[in-house]
Amino acid sequence: MNKRDMILPIPPAEIDAQMAYADQFAALAERPQTYFIVTYGCQMNAHDSEKLAGTLERMGLTAAPCKEEADFVLHNTCCIRDNAERKALGNVTWLKEIKKQRPHLLIGICGCMVQEPGMAETLLRRYPFVDVAFGTGNIHRLPEFLLKAVEKRQRVIAVPEEQSTLIEGLPIKRESSFQNYVTIMYGCNNFCSYCIVPYVRGRERSRNPKDILKEIENLQKQGVQEIMLLGQNVNSYGNDNSFGVTFPQLLHEIGKTGIPRVRFMTSHPKDLSDELIEEMAVNPALCHHFHLPVQSGNNRILDMMNRRYTREIYLDRVRKLRAAVPDIGISTDLIVAFPGETETEFEDTLALSNEVRWDSAFTFIYSPRVGTKAATLPGQIDPDVASRRIEKLIHQQDQITQEIFQSLIGTKVNVLVSGHARRDETELTGKSERNISVNFRGTQDLIGHIVPVQITAASKTTLRGEIIKGE
Ligand code: 5AD
Ligand code: SF4
Repeated sequence: MNKRDMILPIPPAEIDAQMAYADQFAALAERPQTYFIVTYGCQMNAHDSEKLAGTLERMGLTAAPCKEEADFVLHNTCCIRDNAERKALGNVTWLKEIKKQRPHLLIGICGCMVQEPGMAETLLRRYPFVDVAFGTGNIHRLPEFLLKAVEKRQRVIAVPEEQSTLIEGLPIKRESSFQNYVTIMYGCNNFCSYCIVPYVRGRERSRNPKDILKEIENLQKQGVQEIMLLGQNVNSYGNDNSFGVTFPQLLHEIGKTGIPRVRFMTSHPKDLSDELIEEMAVNPALCHHFHLPVQSGNNRILDMMNRRYTREIYLDRVRKLRAAVPDIGISTDLIVAFPGETETEFEDTLALSNEVRWDSAFTFIYSPRVGTKAATLPGQIDPDVASRRIEKLIHQQDQITQEIFQSLIGTKVNVLVSGHARRDETELTGKSERNISVNFRGTQDLIGHIVPVQITAASKTTLRGEIIKGE
């Protein structure tokens, strides 16, 4: 069998059938009129929510200003760590009370948590007030599910066992008119020993490069300034099919579309090729920012995590990236208190942070996930020890971030203006190419544009600057 034949998009006829259900739903005499989507977790989920919103609007619903006012509340969940899961379930349970006062309220739950083994049964038994539940692998069937729930007054709990499909052609309601997500691949094959993602998002499936380029060309025509390419492991784009296009080659083609800025996440260090580093250096559309999760600075822990690189390999990748793109900003993800992590092994992570000097780091306390290998390992770490470690790491990283921010004073950066600053309505804010927030004075009409800014000061989390006129 041709490799490409293994992963086909859902046939267009099936999407058409769903859109017919959507039209049928829109024509119902009595149906929910408004919706609100509560999104948890990563960008992939945020983008799925844009597809769900697009579908719901096609079904005739309009966005409610808050969940308290919506007829249909859909929770798009995350299960990467225990707290994400608890938060989602807590919020769903809270709606149970609202439903007592407003019986027509429809409650939905979807996303990664629903896809967890055993969750469908739990929802059936313990969450009888949930009307619709579906996984990440069948979001395209929302019209069919809602129609059943409303017209036939049936509960729908539908979780596909396997995720071997690609979903193309759903309507998308994009949150921003100038900064958009584009999925290039779904799933993950890596099975890092702590991670639930491969179990809930399935194996790697890369989209056809032609579909990706068509989507980006359309966004470019609409005036979009920046796209974020999404995938759990973008560096292995194309490995699962025979289109013969690698990730660096895809970036090269995307560069030709004329889209001003391109970002991508997430990259796995083991798959970061020299070819990609070269493309970073020559492709003007690629932002000089690289998110490169390392997770730990200790080789034994990295091995236990099944990351398949060493601290030395990581450092080599960083060196090569910086040699090719001297002003690149690198960020990372770090996990502390992995089972069996000793104090000395934790200190290796602290030492690596001093050696690499990331612009920023997302830091997490290891959270056991049922079904993963690490959850069965001996030596789970005491929560107090874990808290102390993460605090120490955050403190050190904050210091490094501060020093990097200070060193940027006096430089000129290009900022894509995204809106008003949070604390001061008279200020604008946006991200530099290096993915650092920059605040400066300016007029509303600049929102959605890329402007040059001279950096004049640095605070803990943002840079401050002045717009450079006449450029
Ligand atoms: N516990 C803590 N952090 C985790 N991550 C993934 N799984 C877990 C877990 N079980 C972190 C990793 C990953 C990021 C998205 O979430 O650092 O890069
Ligand atoms: Fe999880 Fe590892 Fe895949 Fe990232 S690469 S999604 S951490 S299994």
